Amino acid sequence: MDGNGRWARQRGLPRIEGHRQGVEAVRTVLETAWELGIRQITLYAFSAENWKRPAEEVGALMGLLEWFLKRETARLVANRIRLRTIGRIEELPDSVQRVLAEAITATAGFTEHTLVLALNYGARREVADAARAYAAAVVAGHERLETASWDAFSRYLETADLPDPDLVIRTSGETRLSNFLLLQSAYAEFVFTPVLWPDFGKAELTAAVAEYARRERRFGKTSEQLAPTT
Ligand code: FPP
Repeated sequence: MDGNGRWARQRGLPRIEGHRQGVEAVRTVLETAWELGIRQITLYAFSAENWKRPAEEVGALMGLLEWFLKRETARLVANRIRLRTIGRIEELPDSVQRVLAEAITATAGFTEHTLVLALNYGARREVADAARAYAAAVVAGHERLETASWDAFSRYLETADLPDPDLVIRTSGETRLSNFLLLQSAYAEFVFTPVLWPDFGKAELTAAVAEYARRERRFGKTSEQLAPTT
């Protein structure tokens, strides 16, 4: 969700105004996503590296997150959307952890749609944690080195019970992954758009999904192998 800062700067506003407008974009994008039949969406809301930002901005982002959760939990329940997180939640401020826990508990029973918030998340750290847990399981005799595989290892990732992303969208003209779901995105399609996140709305998401639909996902096969046999 890149470009909040630039959106604000272009208008002579403080960066936090861009983030505030970014939250409004989140709301529109979620509504559109469910309308389009998308069943799971992951928002990279705060990376493990974002702590390096000025303390004032980090504090404002945490405040916005808390405000968003307080405001949106009832809507998540009404729309039967399960809330999940990835990332080290235990390092977030207590007040954010509390509202997160409430929202997660209130929506835990829903199965149709999932909103995943990546908070204090970094893919390399996730993989290192998973490797440590996997090694410990080998030592404890719960896993066997001889049968080590992606399927076995991926159960130790935070996303063990979540499907891999089909489409990854990055806004604001940046064309990096920035430590987002590195292994899970191995076969994802990417859409990079110059639109700044606060301006990313219904039309932009619909266009990105249409672009995704035009792509041929071969997963290593040839086009001919994918063609339906008549
Ligand atoms: C990147 O734009 C954006 C972020 C680091 C924060 C995203 C957070 C929100 C939209 C609000 C909180 C999230 C939720 C789910 C309520 P940037 O600041 O790097 O923009 P710039 O590249 O233009 O400076």
